[in-house]
Amino acid sequence: MTASLEEVAYKLAAGGKGILAADESSSTIKRRFDAIGVESTFENRRDYREMLFRSEAMSQYISGVILFDETIRQNAKDGTPLVKLIEDAGSIPGIKVDLGARPQPGCPGETITEGLDGLGERFKEYYDLGARFAKWRAVIDIGSHIPSYTSVLANAQALARYAALAQAANIVPIVEPEVLMDGDHDIDRCYEVTEWVLKEVFQQLFYARVKLESTVLKPNMVIAGKKSQKQASVTEVAEKTVRLLKNTAPAAIPSVAFLSGGQSDEEATAHLDAMIRLGGLPWNLTFSYGRALQAAPQKAWSGKTENIAAGQAAFTHRAKMNYLAALGQWTPEIEAKKAA
Ligand code: 13P
Repeated sequence: MTASLEEVAYKLAAGGKGILAADESSSTIKRRFDAIGVESTFENRRDYREMLFRSEAMSQYISGVILFDETIRQNAKDGTPLVKLIEDAGSIPGIKVDLGARPQPGCPGETITEGLDGLGERFKEYYDLGARFAKWRAVIDIGSHIPSYTSVLANAQALARYAALAQAANIVPIVEPEVLMDGDHDIDRCYEVTEWVLKEVFQQLFYARVKLESTVLKPNMVIAGKKSQKQASVTEVAEKTVRLLKNTAPAAIPSVAFLSGGQSDEEATAHLDAMIRLGGLPWNLTFSYGRALQAAPQKAWSGKTENIAAGQAAFTHRAKMNYLAALGQWTPEIEAKKAA
């Protein structure tokens, strides 16, 4: 059965389920494995991802999984395609298609995401491999003189061209303009920059004739930079993020799925929960976390076969906490009890 693009876009954030971003590039997964003392080999990457895709979390809490090019072609140890493990759990396979952010000429300190050339053809292959949605990440940094309009516009145009190509290939685009939380800026500066970026992104999606009903937005939350002296409360992050989205993201978008961006596991969960509790949201809000879902299972697993059950339990716990958050039913007490 082939689900329509609208159905896929809706399903990715329905009923409290959310997306597992397991699309780390070769260099990023190496960094993550270095941190737990595991060599980044083809087999270790497979074993790690197979562990996640065979966990209980998949059928209960995970609507879709974003894969890297290597993983969408990879088989489990017993020869079953990893894509099939995801499908058998009732989850939807997706694919990261951008080729990463590179320095943008004329814009010191800023990047442009590459990967548009030949993308139509690559989408056809990914569709045949089972991908029903895709992801493209644009990166916007905040500094004293950045972002520039040159960079915001170029990144928004690339996102829009990617999204149009995805829909033409029957694949739902996740549009991810990430405003980084690396700087020392306060929450209001993050609000101002994210608002500008999202306004430009939706303008370019309109010019590129992208159908919003078949699109998923993956934004950052409105949050102070990591190095800021003035960290905001959970309530302030929730209120400002929802206010920003109401001002920028049309109600035609069925699903908004946040990135975690370097927040702690529990912060990412608490912020989502607080937003849902505000109520009256025109879109389904959920998670599309990489680090905030995987840091715990990576640590519990640490590359050892005897730790697979512990890694799966850690992943299932995090996925469940975020599922409860996406329903507005998470509490610090549930978190503490389940982690014990
Ligand atoms: P994080 O949740 O670790 O930010 O990753 C999500 C993602 O897909 C970034 O592109």
